[in-house]
Amino acid sequence: MTPYKSFPKLTTLLYLCIISFVAACNPLSPPPSPTMSTPPTPTPEIFPTPLSFGEPIEAFEQAEQLGRGVNFANALEAPNEGEWGLTLEERYFDLAKEGGFATIRLPVRWSAHAEVQAPYTIDENFFRRIDWAIAHATRRGLNIVVNMHHYEEFMSNPEEHRARFIAIWTQIAERYQNQPATVVFELCNEPNGMSANRWNPIAQEALAAVRTTNPTRNVIIGGADWNSIQGLMDLKLPEADRHVIATFHYYSPFEFTHQGAEWVKGSEAWLGTEWLGKSNDKSVVNYHLDQVAQWSEENRRPMWLGEFGAYSKADMDSRVRWTSYLARDAEKHHISWAYWEFGAGFGLYDLAQNAWNQPLLEALVP
Ligand code: GLC
Repeated sequence: MTPYKSFPKLTTLLYLCIISFVAACNPLSPPPSPTMSTPPTPTPEIFPTPLSFGEPIEAFEQAEQLGRGVNFANALEAPNEGEWGLTLEERYFDLAKEGGFATIRLPVRWSAHAEVQAPYTIDENFFRRIDWAIAHATRRGLNIVVNMHHYEEFMSNPEEHRARFIAIWTQIAERYQNQPATVVFELCNEPNGMSANRWNPIAQEALAAVRTTNPTRNVIIGGADWNSIQGLMDLKLPEADRHVIATFHYYSPFEFTHQGAEWVKGSEAWLGTEWLGKSNDKSVVNYHLDQVAQWSEENRRPMWLGEFGAYSKADMDSRVRWTSYLARDAEKHHISWAYWEFGAGFGLYDLAQNAWNQPLLEALVP
């Protein structure tokens, strides 16, 4: 039975409108440029002893273990850490653990810290900073998903940057090959500006590069078109490689989640948009997650929702309703998730007040 058949006609039309709207939106781009001065990046602590590799984890099992997660965003994917107002601290890892999260997603702008010419060497100090983050997550029993975020030059010119993209992954994979299986790689945040036909073979090439040193580590891969559900439908993964978890992002309705977002042109017009959680609102979310679950079943791939969240300019009651519905509905579909994000504009934790945004935390971890 196709998912459409279970809904009345009028609702179907509404879905189609919303889906075409979401498909037409390509507006995700970096957060607003910083207005704050750059705090110095602390000298990285070094953890020279690699943690034991441990047993490989089957992809479905690991996807389940990822459980509830949070993105440590606006730090390491800024051009330089601190430039977007956030520098990671050790206590954030404790907070994530105490808050009830099992997983940290770590957005990283590797491209700003690697040579522009072959062999595209990644800066050693930057690598140590990532070692530091991995060590702090791992020591606390947290999974950590290390991604590649905001490689904008690659998005605008994939063929020219293809070799560098692969070389960066080769180095990351080599460096972390002895880390435990709870360290997971995610190839590319929100590929865009290229079709699935272009992205799919590049992703497979990067995966093959990772496999030379990490034969069984689970790798997370999403589709073109900003990791949208539409993009997932066109994602092609190598059939024989079963250590892959597929991912997608969810920000629908976009005019609700991104109202007033400084990096989305025209979004002030959406200010005041509420999410009331009426049965139709919920059916739309549920319909989308049904699509994801169906893809997952047909392709025999576990799924991960790597980003979802509503910006702080939306009213808090609506944010709490939407966030809680999303988290529970994903769980109902056996999809683990990571909230976007910890301490900035979608903030789950108020760094200025040193306090959780309690209603949001409870929406995520009831
Ligand atoms: C994507 C973008 C990130 C943005 C978020 C929400 O992850 O890469 O920069 O803040 O979506 O719009």
